[in-house]
Amino acid sequence: MFDKILLKNMDTPNSHEISVYENAGGYQSLATVLKSYTSSDLIEMVKESNLRGRGGAGFPTGLKWSFVPKDSQKTPLLCCNADEGEPGTFKDRALMEKDPHMMLEGIIITAYAIGAKVTYVYIRGEYELSIDRVESAIKEAYAQGYLGPDILGSGFSHDVYIHRGAGAYICGEETALLESIEGRRAQPKLKPPFPAVEGLYGSPTVVNNVETFACLPHIIQRGPEWFKSIGPEASPGPKLYCLSGQVKKPGLYELPMGISLRELVYDYGGGACSGRVKAVIPGGVSAPMFPESELDIGLDFNSLAAAGSMLGSAGVIVLDDTTCIVQVISRITEFFNHESCGKCTPCREGLAWCAKILRRMEAGEGKHEDLERLEALCETMFGNSFCALGVGASWALQAALKHFRAEFVQHIEEGACPFH
Ligand SMILES: Cc1cc2nc3c(=O)[nH]c(=O)nc-3n(C[C@H](O)[C@H](O)[C@H](O)COP(=O)(O)O)c2cc1C
Ligand code: SF4
Repeated sequence: MFDKILLKNMDTPNSHEISVYENAGGYQSLATVLKSYTSSDLIEMVKESNLRGRGGAGFPTGLKWSFVPKDSQKTPLLCCNADEGEPGTFKDRALMEKDPHMMLEGIIITAYAIGAKVTYVYIRGEYELSIDRVESAIKEAYAQGYLGPDILGSGFSHDVYIHRGAGAYICGEETALLESIEGRRAQPKLKPPFPAVEGLYGSPTVVNNVETFACLPHIIQRGPEWFKSIGPEASPGPKLYCLSGQVKKPGLYELPMGISLRELVYDYGGGACSGRVKAVIPGGVSAPMFPESELDIGLDFNSLAAAGSMLGSAGVIVLDDTTCIVQVISRITEFFNHESCGKCTPCREGLAWCAKILRRMEAGEGKHEDLERLEALCETMFGNSFCALGVGASWALQAALKHFRAEFVQHIEEGACPFH
């Protein structure tokens, strides 16, 4: 039985209120940091913990903070990525709705580490309750002296503002997110310069995910060695897994990094609704799926990368044996085609063609040559897309074609979907 860390307050009545958070020891890590740590101490401590960003790419958090130049003419800025657009993902929403102060404490600690005076929390516009809860939490934090000028008499000042997104998936990509805050069309920008060096309004800007921030008070309170002892050392810590799809017990599970996909789906999720798992998508729909025979894989950044997929947003989607894989990947490709920002040709045109071919296949009008065509399009998108949207979309399709080719062929040869 794993003792909850990030979800520990969730079942307490009014867990979103500051008094509940404080009674559970909340904001003590911030007080410790402001009293006893320098910025360099904090960055070293987070590096030592091996905390890796929970937004998708798994970039080491302390290392990212260390890229902020010490001699910049411009004051660094901080952004909290709460866009959570990846289908199958609902962990950041739970944190913001049920325990927004844990994230907020992490934000203020990070701001102190990088010397930021302002944070923008970019929240997906559809998340009305999250927006309300974070707004109230910010007000409460000001009233208690955890935000505003001279926080807890430390001389450090910080302000936090909410920015509401307008529902585009690409706004979760960090450079597009910064464009969106500046009031421009959200399209990814060339890196370098990386945002930590030159980001929002030309200032060094750190972007971290909600769950990444929520880990920080615990690392301060219990130390980097404790954090590293949970799960694989190179990819450690507690992790929120969003289990959904055709699974008997869907929900948000907090478990160590590195737990196997099989354990999560069967021991915690109770297995597939139909009784037979067909495939599992491990990290939101951009992550290549695994067939049932390959579920003995650890849910952590390195293990999944070595197995040809990714942990991504930890949106674990179960597909049972009543599912048509051609239909599933057709819907996923439609989604990416709709959300493509249009900046680069391989993604804009490639996804439109893939979506069209898959629609035809689903209707039983596909041809054998379509399979080679889809593979060629995936190869072009994978190698030439400007950002990870085009890469992820082609990667997900490639995996469906690889593991379930027979099902595509069946659609072509029978001239109909065998599942409907
Ligand atoms: C198309 C696309 C969508 C993304 N959406 C999100 C998102 O909704 N939330 C998020 O935290 N990161 C998202 N990311 C990752 C961010 O670009 C960035 O890596 C992350 O916010 C950094 O935070 P972390 O280091 O704490 O993980 C997305 C990336 C891409 C390419
Ligand atoms: S890969 Fe797609 S989403 Fe990314 S920049 Fe190109 S068109 Fe836009």
